[in-house]
Amino acid sequence: MPFVGKNISMKSRLPTVLLVAVLSVLLLVTPTSHSQGPRDVEQRINALLAQMTLEEKLGQLQQLDGEGNGSFRPEHVELVRKGLLGSTLNVRGAQRTNQLQRVAMNESRLKIPVLFGFDTIHGYRTIFPIPLGEASSWDPSLAERSAAVAAQEANNVGLRWTFAPMVDIARDPRWGRITEGAGEDPFLGAAFARARVRGFQGNDYGAADKILACAKHFAAYGAAEGGRDYNTTDLSENTLREIYLPPFKAAVEAGVGTLMSSFNAINGVPASANAFTLTKVLRDEWKFDGFVVSDYTSVRELINHGIAANEEEAAAAALNAGVDMEMVSRSYNQFGPQLLKQNKLSNATIDEAVRRILRIKFRLGLFDRPYTDEAREPTSLLRPDSIRLAREIAGRSMVLLKNDRETLPLNKNVGSIAVIGPLADDRRAPLGWWAGDGKEENTIAPLAGIKAKVTPQTKVGYAKGCDVVGDSTAGFQEAVALAKTSDVAIVFVGEIHDMVGEAASRATLDLPGRQMELVQAIHATGKPTVVVLVNGRPLSVRWIVNNVPAIFESWMGGTQSGHAIADILFGDVNPGGKLPVTVPRAVGQVPIYYNHMNTGRPPEAQNRYTSKYYDLPWTPLFPFGYGLSYTRFKISNLQLSAPRIGAGGKLTVTVEVENTGRRAGDEVVQLYIRDLVATMTRPVKELKGFQRVSLQPGEKRRVEFVLGSEHLGFWNREMRYVVEPGEFSVMVGANSVDVLEAKFNVN
Ligand code: BGC
Repeated sequence: MPFVGKNISMKSRLPTVLLVAVLSVLLLVTPTSHSQGPRDVEQRINALLAQMTLEEKLGQLQQLDGEGNGSFRPEHVELVRKGLLGSTLNVRGAQRTNQLQRVAMNESRLKIPVLFGFDTIHGYRTIFPIPLGEASSWDPSLAERSAAVAAQEANNVGLRWTFAPMVDIARDPRWGRITEGAGEDPFLGAAFARARVRGFQGNDYGAADKILACAKHFAAYGAAEGGRDYNTTDLSENTLREIYLPPFKAAVEAGVGTLMSSFNAINGVPASANAFTLTKVLRDEWKFDGFVVSDYTSVRELINHGIAANEEEAAAAALNAGVDMEMVSRSYNQFGPQLLKQNKLSNATIDEAVRRILRIKFRLGLFDRPYTDEAREPTSLLRPDSIRLAREIAGRSMVLLKNDRETLPLNKNVGSIAVIGPLADDRRAPLGWWAGDGKEENTIAPLAGIKAKVTPQTKVGYAKGCDVVGDSTAGFQEAVALAKTSDVAIVFVGEIHDMVGEAASRATLDLPGRQMELVQAIHATGKPTVVVLVNGRPLSVRWIVNNVPAIFESWMGGTQSGHAIADILFGDVNPGGKLPVTVPRAVGQVPIYYNHMNTGRPPEAQNRYTSKYYDLPWTPLFPFGYGLSYTRFKISNLQLSAPRIGAGGKLTVTVEVENTGRRAGDEVVQLYIRDLVATMTRPVKELKGFQRVSLQPGEKRRVEFVLGSEHLGFWNREMRYVVEPGEFSVMVGANSVDVLEAKFNVN
């Protein structure tokens, strides 16, 4: 008789009821709670594995690229029909994905659904600021919300997987992909990694408005020598564990379903064949049970790295190290069978990779809900609430760098404005690199944003002046004439979208082309001048910082960039963003980052034999964590809950922050620590807490941080994470330089 419960007395039912309740709660709180229990899933995987041929198994490990227009290729249909293709990238559109999925579900022997992936990095159609910009908000909840919109839009066009978040730490602004991550700091990076994973996946990445996330690029891709993309990295295990790995660990802890192995080699071992990162750290230490996809042809590229003589060896090296799915190159499929025969690959290794991929497909609910509702697609993109959010996030991501004599905000009734520069009327640059399916026609350029903002009486003139790339100054005269006849000049300079992102490393950090001369020419008119930077990496704009009274960093602000810029220029939004990266004075200072180690000879201005430069100060143009507001804040009264704590103890740190100006605004209160004496050299500062607080004029608030062993320890010489006894400094302030300081001891 089936269990119905009605014959059981309430008393005897209680434990069962409790057990069911506890189990349901447990299921609900697991990062990815799925329609099927884990045991069901493993059983279904076993059943499938028992039926699969070797070719079908290898087919699950293969991902292939679609056509440039988002369509699948004729070959994909054949492969899917035979059960030989596990996943595609770039194929999108509900109709198309359904069409290919129907082949899998109706015509293939085992009916294993295809997994459709795409780089939905900072939005699908509604584009949000580049991730570096979004990190400047120092508000991870915004990244969670933008990722949720990206997921909702992507899901509706048939996608189930994004190759995001990109969580690479980048200490080198020459590296174009600095634009895709959260900057230079592991603590901030981990917070954004968690938030983005939560935003894309929610509690159940099988839900109709969610997608599977992929933390990439594992690992240390951002440490590329010389900032040159794809280049090798050479770094200690301490640096790997303390700087580059924390955002990945945070993503795994937040339940990320997949990781992508990177292009670079780490200390001589390519990341896509690196058993240390892929198996020891990821599987054994972090207990990750999702799957790893290679980066684009990075398996075949093991030949170029010189650790495989041919594709056969490349396949063995990658699969044995822990890369489960191969993107675009086909080494696993071509050489799997013979590697198996030669005992260079085991059945168990192949089965494990297949198991990990099928597990995620089950968790996605793909077997039960393989299709996308085509009717939903048209209404799901660019929803009014998504656009509103894009404007809000863009406004909160921009950073005021300089504002002498309160040049900003401008009066909406200013009289006449000269809008100048190659990026003033550009709708492509704000979308940045990896702009999903974002479109220029849906994007607001700064010029349009300004026109929409000012009063009807205000005259807005526009002159391009010059291009971002190129040598012509033919447009200068018109721009100068316009500035001369206007009350104020706003100059938009920076980078075009493809100067940043993948394969866009730069050997200088100067403004490209003749843009600096354009700024100089406009400034020479004597008109009040504002420079707005539109760019995807820190730029060494020393002359502008020394001469122009007002500068603000708009990054590449997405679909609503122009409106968000105007909101700030005219004071409807008070800027509160802070730099998530150090801005160098010149490229020769790179690498320059705030959490560096001390030397035996720390820099001293008057002492030649100390660690600095002959021709430039050692300090950056703008420090990490820096950013201004239209109001003023005072941070005071730093207090610690105790002068000493035990190694496993907690310390509460409080400060007061007060808005002492006349406008409502946001301050980002930042907490740094320094382990003053340890068995290894420790960074001069490490971010361990931050809070963005909104305050009305005159309002004062207490901000509290709790420090514990997860903040105070480090990886020691024996590669153990330890909190060492001794004295620590704790610093709290509005950026990484202007801080209050107190000391405490760990026993
Ligand atoms: C990039 C990845 C991206 C992949 C698929 C590669 O070239 O490095 O970040 O996810 O292409 O588009």
